[in-house]
Amino acid sequence: MFAFAPTAPHDKPELYRDLVASAEALTQGEPDAVANMANLAALIWTFLPDLNWAGFYRVMPAAPGELVLGPFIGKPACIRIAIGAGVCGTAAATRTTQCVADVHAFPGHIACDADSRSELVVPVVRDGAVIAVIDLDSPLPARFDADDAAGIEHLARVIATRI
Ligand code: SME
Repeated sequence: MFAFAPTAPHDKPELYRDLVASAEALTQGEPDAVANMANLAALIWTFLPDLNWAGFYRVMPAAPGELVLGPFIGKPACIRIAIGAGVCGTAAATRTTQCVADVHAFPGHIACDADSRSELVVPVVRDGAVIAVIDLDSPLPARFDADDAAGIEHLARVIATRI
């Protein structure tokens, strides 16, 4: 049984230090990328409040120009997203974190869950290439701030060789 849980849920930098340490421990020595992404999605869901979707879109050699849905927690979602489209595709195309306070104001936002109001998407980069994005959705407007972006970017760096 795994019993990972935040020790300081109201201190965001501490919460993310805990999350990253738990992610490192959980994926240590496990070579299966899908198993690791599934556990990481569950870990994010366990640590971060007010999410309605948390998971991965992956860059697949068999699907150039697209992101393909990976392990996640939440409602069933769009399976393929063109790189450059929506919040996820923009993060992948620009290799930059997208922190969107109001998804309805983001041109081309792809609505997978009508409850989503804000979104954070962080690219995962390995050997200079985007291999996936971490996508978090919230039903609350402006749920994500600079601390969330920095925390998920740290997570992305740590897991880049494990997914
Ligand atoms: N909203 C995303 C699509 C993925 S879902 O949020 C799970 C986007 O605009 O890329």
